[in-house]
Amino acid sequence: MIKHPLRILTMGLALTAATLAAAAAQDLPKMKQKQAYKVGFAQTESNNPWRIAQTESMKAEAQKQGWQLVYTDAAGSAAKQVADVDSMIAQGVDLIFLAPREEKPLVAAVMKAKRAGIPVILLDRRVDETQAKPGRDYVTFIGSDFIDQGRRAAEWLVKSTGGNAKIIELQGTVGSSPANDRRKGFAEVIAKNPGMQIVASQSGDFVRDKGRQVMETLLQANPQATAVYAHNDEMAIGALAALEAAGRKPGKDITVVSIDGTRDALQGIVDGKIGAVVESNPRFGPKAFETARRYAAGEKIDPWIKVPDNFYEASNAAESVASAY
Ligand code: AHR
Repeated sequence: MIKHPLRILTMGLALTAATLAAAAAQDLPKMKQKQAYKVGFAQTESNNPWRIAQTESMKAEAQKQGWQLVYTDAAGSAAKQVADVDSMIAQGVDLIFLAPREEKPLVAAVMKAKRAGIPVILLDRRVDETQAKPGRDYVTFIGSDFIDQGRRAAEWLVKSTGGNAKIIELQGTVGSSPANDRRKGFAEVIAKNPGMQIVASQSGDFVRDKGRQVMETLLQANPQATAVYAHNDEMAIGALAALEAAGRKPGKDITVVSIDGTRDALQGIVDGKIGAVVESNPRFGPKAFETARRYAAGEKIDPWIKVPDNFYEASNAAESVASAY
């Protein structure tokens, strides 16, 4: 009998849904107690200081604990990151630390690891929680409260502009949890302040040069802008270059606020060009490895291990420049 292509597609989808449902029904994989483990760390990319600091922290902690670390860099591709997790599964790691580049595509990686009996701990970014849940499909999420980071950036901006600003927003990677949540938290506070208006909002992919290019375009279309909200410091630094090239004076005729806490951004505050930075702490190593050990020991792990974040402005930035990354 010749099957209709639509029927084959429907059967395929049903099979995928059935496979995912079967994986979801299983218990969270256990981890044997051992002195040392072989663990994976699937990084998203290494094109900014935040990512490099996170990787360094993970590698340093692995060395300190005497654990073997299988490290991969997805080079900005969600598809490669899924393949990286496949290769970790094939190498028989005891646990996978995953920093999921985007919320939806990386659900597949979490479920594959679960099916293979390998526990996953999500670091710094989330996957879509309607499809994969902490405590059921992965052990936990260790990371900042991105919605709160967006709120804190907006609250500072409202205060420092007297509640009046025309804002250009530079969003992070489309489909990533920090971009989604930083946008949400910021918009929530802005909506309560009638004098504050987001005049343009576009992704600069968390990258410095893309931030510069997007800022250049948005500024041409919105020369009346009086503030910039960048979802990370790298894009804020790129925006400074675009602003200065256009004859604007950041810190004087336009207010810039961003998120992360890189050395360049803290120096930007000291130089009077960036108004404030909400910290997003990248040093995950100690908490990640401690959580894996606690999980192996059979302890109950909270679904979200929150990373606390500082706040930098003119009054305290200088003292943190030297220890920043
Ligand atoms: O997920 C955290 C974000 O990812 C950081 O703010 C950004 O710099 C990084 O690429």
